[in-house]
Amino acid sequence: MPEIISVHSFRGGTGKSNTTANLAALMALSGKRVGIVDTDIQSPGIHVIFGKDEESFTHVLNDFLWGRCEIQETAYDVTDRLGPAATGRIFLIPSSVNAGDIARIIQEGYDINLLSEGFRSLITHLKLDYLLIDTHPGLNEETLLSLALSNSLVIVMRPDYQDYQGTGITIEVARELEVPRILLLANKIPPSQNIDELSKRIEAAYGIPPAVAIPHSDEMMLLASHDLFVCRFPNHPTTQHYQRLMNQLTGQ
Ligand SMILES: Nc1ncnc2c1ncn2[C@@H]1O[C@H](COP(=O)(O)OP(=O)(O)O)[C@@H](O)[C@H]1O
Ligand SMILES: [Mg+2]
Repeated sequence: MPEIISVHSFRGGTGKSNTTANLAALMALSGKRVGIVDTDIQSPGIHVIFGKDEESFTHVLNDFLWGRCEIQETAYDVTDRLGPAATGRIFLIPSSVNAGDIARIIQEGYDINLLSEGFRSLITHLKLDYLLIDTHPGLNEETLLSLALSNSLVIVMRPDYQDYQGTGITIEVARELEVPRILLLANKIPPSQNIDELSKRIEAAYGIPPAVAIPHSDEMMLLASHDLFVCRFPNHPTTQHYQRLMNQLTGQ
């Protein structure tokens, strides 16, 4: 059964897009067919990690939502970013970075049901094993829809009290929507912080421990979303954390 996995956080800049991109990379390296939809329509960006810019795309998610094309026409095979080792595939469905398009979406909204039809159509036409949804921070209509359709939700949080409260709200909503699997990713942990103590604190607050706790890494910061971390640094501890997260999501 194909699975839909949403990657979400209550606040921005937590590491959602890099997590989504690197999870997809590990899945494709292990032979899976993966789709990534950039539903962060208000502030899209995951295409950058795959080395793409607006000129790389003829059609984007916005075109589909405005009835200008089929969803399959917005899917771009970005597997070459992984090098020759990949036996699976990654298809990216980018959102427009055109200021006018973003303004239009914010002002007019779009048919949310069309987005869910699009997800299903992508899974069928591209024969996907996993569809990953990179979301806009906070709770809005498309995020609620993505959560409601998801088999798994990865909630990314930093060890910051503003994130703690927001994460609690997101978990509550996900439980209301009966998302079958909720995994917490504690990210950007200062290297001097005691991870066991932090994990216990998170478990006490939400009833679930973090599935993975990833320290802040200078290498990730310096890579600056310019490439896939797991490909550049295959032996780095952060890559092993992503691997563990993928194993939990795929049941390996
Ligand atoms: N564990 C980490 N250590 C250091 N920097 C990180 C880590 N995870 C993500 N980042 C950096 O944080 C920034 C925001 O990441 P991004 O994936 O774009 O977040 P979001 O999609 O949630 O806004 C990027 O510069 C990214 O390289
Ligand atoms: Mg993002």
